[in-house]
Amino acid sequence: MTGTGSIGRRLTFLLAGVAALLSVLSWWMVTGLARQAAERTQDNVLAASVTTIAETLRSEQGEVRLELPYSAFSMLGAISQDRVFYRVTDGTRVLTGYADLPVPTELEAVVGQVVFDTGEYSGEEVRMATVTRLVLAGTQPVPVTVTVAQTRGGVASISAELSQLAALLSVAFFLVAVTLSGFAARASLRPLNEIAAAVSRRGPSDLRPLRRAAPTELAPLMSSLNRLMDRLGQSIRSAEDFIAEAAHRIRTPLATVRAQAEIALRSAKDEDQKQRLRQMIRAVDESSRSAGQLLDHATVIYRADDLARSPINLSDLVRQTAAALEPTASMKDIHLKIDAVPAHVEGDPVLLDNALRNILDNAIKYSPPETDVRISVTEQDKEIRITVTDQGSGLGDGPVDVLTHRFQRGTNTQGIVGSGLGLTIVKDVLTAHGGRLELEQRKGAAGTCATLVLPSS
Ligand SMILES: Nc1ncnc2c1ncn2[C@@H]1O[C@H](COP(=O)(O)OP(=O)(O)O)[C@@H](O)[C@H]1O
Ligand SMILES: [Mg+2]
Repeated sequence: MTGTGSIGRRLTFLLAGVAALLSVLSWWMVTGLARQAAERTQDNVLAASVTTIAETLRSEQGEVRLELPYSAFSMLGAISQDRVFYRVTDGTRVLTGYADLPVPTELEAVVGQVVFDTGEYSGEEVRMATVTRLVLAGTQPVPVTVTVAQTRGGVASISAELSQLAALLSVAFFLVAVTLSGFAARASLRPLNEIAAAVSRRGPSDLRPLRRAAPTELAPLMSSLNRLMDRLGQSIRSAEDFIAEAAHRIRTPLATVRAQAEIALRSAKDEDQKQRLRQMIRAVDESSRSAGQLLDHATVIYRADDLARSPINLSDLVRQTAAALEPTASMKDIHLKIDAVPAHVEGDPVLLDNALRNILDNAIKYSPPETDVRISVTEQDKEIRITVTDQGSGLGDGPVDVLTHRFQRGTNTQGIVGSGLGLTIVKDVLTAHGGRLELEQRKGAAGTCATLVLPSS
């Protein structure tokens, strides 16, 4: 399954992107506001300074006179170490100060009002405040213009400092926001993960509908999941029913056919006819055996999914199963020799009996008459090993692991009835119990060694 990335990561990135945008925006705004505030402060002080000077203007014997009050400059020095320039003109003449200070343009019209301007003086940017006052010199009023200018280093450094602080705060805000985004993404995905966990915790055959409370966004997912499980459950049930029904319907008439054929065989005189009847009985045996195996396989699939776990002593189980197969073995004069220690597992006795029966059946089936089949039960390292060793034909020359595939029979099966489902059943049962099947040719002797490995309880 190829993923299309993680929703959590996408959500985190999205939120982090928004946070970054907000951080930059707030930094930019704070920087702008800080600069504005610093400039306004400077303007206010400049205005106060220029007004203070302008207020000292008076006329004396038709001449404009002024005092430069100390306070007018000290207040400028209070806010920064910037250089201060000033000039006073009466329209045509420079009365005092720096003559080359650039004059704010179009001033004359606004009398009594402080006008601000920014210009350049002695190689530095300066902020200037200018006010014009009419001073009565002799008979007519003369407009006198006072300008105070100050370099802007202080403003720049204050706003740089604040901007740095704002940048720091923005970065901190961004980091906090990213962390919170991660949490938020995880928190909003939690219900989804909980549903996934609840589904995967279930056994594969647990197809009950999900009944957990979920956010509204997940309701469609939940209901389609439930519908899917419902359909799946139905089709599994009908498949199981079908197999059980089919196996039953095949076996019953076959048993009748077999009984009739045996009766016919007993009364048959002609050797040719007897031969045909024997073949017929064999074919019937094979079919009913296959039907039985199919039914067993269906049972295993169904029960393995929803495994019953009851405590079982495997050595008892081995003895029981061997006893059940004793008649089959004795028909070939095969001895079943059991060497078992008590070994306890948790599991489904029906399935384990079925697996054991298939392994023993093979051992007996693929062994020549008058041989031994040894069954041992041992326990080591929390593992129980049931080893069935025969003196038969071995596993043939094909690959061994395919023998556990469905309907797969070996190359050594000439004339021996079978359906190729036995080892499939064994493997499925062991897998359901957390165990495994080990199949090997016996070393140094003819025969097969099949081991059922199960975790001990
Ligand atoms: N004890 C054994 N000795 C020899 N061959 C075996 C033995 N057990 C299994 N096999 C081989 O594995 C194949 C698959 O076994 P199984 O699934 O039980 O099918 P079958 O119906 O043929 O017994 C058999 O056809 C046989 O070739
Ligand atoms: Mg078999």
